[in-house]
Amino acid sequence: MALRLAGKHCAVIGATGIIGSHIAKAFAANGAVVSLLSRTAPEARPKLEPELLPYKPTDSAPSDNPSVHRFIGLDVFQHNSIKEVMGGKKEGSAGPVDILVNCAGISQTTVMKRTPDSELRDIVDTNLLATMIVCKHANIRPHGCIINVSSLMAIKGVPGAAAYAASKAGVIGFTRALCRELSPRSIRVNALLPGWVDSPMWKQLKPELKEAYLRDTPLHRVAHPAEIADAAVFLAANSFANNCVLNIDGGLSAA
Ligand SMILES: NC(=O)c1ccc[n+]([C@@H]2O[C@H](COP(=O)([O-])OP(=O)(O)OC[C@H]3O[C@@H](n4cnc5c(N)ncnc54)[C@H](OP(=O)(O)O)[C@@H]3O)[C@@H](O)[C@H]2O)c1
Repeated sequence: MALRLAGKHCAVIGATGIIGSHIAKAFAANGAVVSLLSRTAPEARPKLEPELLPYKPTDSAPSDNPSVHRFIGLDVFQHNSIKEVMGGKKEGSAGPVDILVNCAGISQTTVMKRTPDSELRDIVDTNLLATMIVCKHANIRPHGCIINVSSLMAIKGVPGAAAYAASKAGVIGFTRALCRELSPRSIRVNALLPGWVDSPMWKQLKPELKEAYLRDTPLHRVAHPAEIADAAVFLAANSFANNCVLNIDGGLSAA
């Protein structure tokens, strides 16, 4: 049986992170050729490349697909380089993609009053503005798909994460509007809202906060990053999944 993403070219921004790297691995395991992007993607190549199923082009794969998984440096703070890397035609640019995942993100662990203004701006710039600029410049093929990684915090109030929550809520509004704008080219646009994932973001929480979240989560555990990646594969592969705002949080959203 053909793999679900056979012959697709997927670009994952934030592919060196715990969630992004699992998404890249899951896409490769489903037959895609993956461009992994982040500031440190080229340096991460020796560690991540052996974990990716090597790409085998199919007869129907577009001739301008990359022939192997690629590791491309991209700092989403540098808007000119987003344009060059995502939309450019030069060697080393991402090129046409079928699936784009915006997974680069930074978190917040301080209440508003104690968060420097520059940090508030950085959070919104990285999590929201960069997502918009990447989507603006990416060369997405007709019938392609965008997956924007938001967060449960976009829809659930949590102290100590106000700018983060606002940036992730913005991602949902952006996703919905872009879904309408890209309809003439049949490009699907979806948002993924993970709850807590076994990750550095989770590990840096105070023990009492972790206990409270685990108590409130009906499944009483955090997600394995592979469970989030599995949801990304669903959104990428299901050709009727459009404008989904998919929470995958062990039920924490019900609490
Ligand atoms: N962990 C959770 O529990 C959780 C829950 C809900 C939502 N999320 C969201 O899921 C996404 C991934 O989270 P994670 O836990 O995997 O975080 P992570 O392990 O810290 O990874 C963050 C990724 O973002 C990239 N990144 C950060 N700033 C960047 C920049 N200026 N330019 C390019 N890339 C940049 C990092 O790459 P480099 O450092 O190499 O540039 C890395 O690949 C984030 O959007 C996060 O908000 C996470």
